[in-house]
Amino acid sequence: MISLQNISKSYTSKNETVVLFTDLHWQIETGKYVSLMGASGAGKSSILSLIAGIITPDNGSIELSGTNITQLSTDEMIRYRGQHIAFIFQAFELIPNLTVNENIDLILDISHAPRRYETSAILEKVWLAGKGDRYPTELSGGEQQRVAIARAFVADVEYLLADEPTGNLDEGNANRIMDLIDTLHRETGNTIVMITHDRDIANRADLIYRLHGGQLALI
Ligand SMILES: Nc1ncnc2c1ncn2[C@@H]1O[C@H](COP(=O)(O)OP(=O)(O)OP(=O)(O)O)[C@@H](O)[C@H]1O
Ligand SMILES: [Mg+2]
Repeated sequence: MISLQNISKSYTSKNETVVLFTDLHWQIETGKYVSLMGASGAGKSSILSLIAGIITPDNGSIELSGTNITQLSTDEMIRYRGQHIAFIFQAFELIPNLTVNENIDLILDISHAPRRYETSAILEKVWLAGKGDRYPTELSGGEQQRVAIARAFVADVEYLLADEPTGNLDEGNANRIMDLIDTLHRETGNTIVMITHDRDIANRADLIYRLHGGQLALI
């Protein structure tokens, strides 16, 4: 369960203050796949950063499986994040001087989370069998994002946070990525929060939320 209670959050830069949330509530049940839509600047990525403990709310509490992460120290949060949360980003974020295998295995070293799949097995699931020794630059955009999917599922963690994971892909590749996420979600039972601008992609989730004016509504 992800639970955001009474969240307020503002950003202050130079002499300007942006109020994102004053009283945000959100509950996501364990094992659900939810998508999050909303206009650019609405605060979607900020919500993922709050859930991941990358930024802290000004007020309110954020609980993941009963742990109030707002009360963790920075070191505790880094450890907690590694053991519980995986990410997929729009820009893939692979490490260029590491091979596909090394990119995937690095996550296990960093997170200290248990391994869920052998590296060769997860590469097979994302249709990249035999490409483990390639470098990211030797792969197409769709293939790079499939490595990022493999990296997000190789460790046995409960939560997957995805920020427009198909934003840089054409429709064919985007659909392949979403099919993979669907399959791996069913197989692992993880809880997914996915940001997307695309209503067809959002429709794959169990629930679709729209963020508008600092409030979330089911659509
Ligand atoms: N570190 C920061 N300092 C100051 N303002 C910030 C910071 N991060 C985000 N913002 C502001 O907060 C608002 C919400 O940003 P956020 O990235 O959460 O939006 P978003 O819904 O993900 O948008 P997009 O769809 O364009 O990715 C924006 O107005 C942004 O400029
Ligand atoms: Mg964003």
